[in-house]
Amino acid sequence: MAIIIKSKRQIEGIRESSKLAAGTLDYISEHVEEGVSTEYLDDLIHKYITENGAVPAPLGYHGFPKSSCISLNDVICHGIPSKQTILKHGDILNIDVTTIVDGYFGDTSRMFTIGEVSAEAQKLIQVAKECLILGIEQVAPKKRFGNIGFVIAKHAKAHGFSVVHQFCGHGVGVKFHEEPQVHHISPKKSGDRMKPGMIFTIEPMINCGKAEATIDEQDEWTARTVDNQLSAQYEHTLLVTDSGVEVLT
Ligand code: MF3
Ligand code: CO
Ligand code: CO
Repeated sequence: MAIIIKSKRQIEGIRESSKLAAGTLDYISEHVEEGVSTEYLDDLIHKYITENGAVPAPLGYHGFPKSSCISLNDVICHGIPSKQTILKHGDILNIDVTTIVDGYFGDTSRMFTIGEVSAEAQKLIQVAKECLILGIEQVAPKKRFGNIGFVIAKHAKAHGFSVVHQFCGHGVGVKFHEEPQVHHISPKKSGDRMKPGMIFTIEPMINCGKAEATIDEQDEWTARTVDNQLSAQYEHTLLVTDSGVEVLT
């Protein structure tokens, strides 16, 4: 299976879906506060997406039970929104939204903070954001995918953080997860070359401590850091254009 080059029409559809995914994060940002449960936020996300004529992609995806992933503190990704998980002062969290509009997917996530968070948490979040931006700067026709993971890992390590290698970015648009896998650690000049019309995510997960993730045995989704130290992530859906990159989300 090769990396899909999207048609004009597919690009239009994915652009619309990506706009809604990003708009959903803008919308939910006003509701993220101390004392609310992550299930409450997920309910609002579900309403917002469906009222906009779209479908939340996570719901029912390989059995995932909710409409978004909400990952707190030591949760790297795939946190399941829950009535029991109440946001408290000092928490950091990632909200990951994927929408389906007319069959087209857009995928994006951001970090949020509750009240005042530790200096270490602030630094981690800042570096994770910078890692995504540096990765995006490596996107252009003829460039290699491996350069994305090269610059991300270099930046994270320079700040004493580690990069999760068990989860990757991915092609996206006509399916939730398509080829290629976009690694967040990789050798310079490795991987396929990018071509105009390719659409994929970059979504680095950066840890304060060890890079390794362990999956919750009960729910079989929640991915946590093995040492329970903090993790942060940012994600955008990106289009390779004739001259460079367009951030769709
Ligand atoms: N949105 C996640 C990603 O960035 C995937 C979530 S899969 C789910 O690829 F099933 F947990 F929703
Ligand atoms: Co993704
Ligand atoms: Co996502």
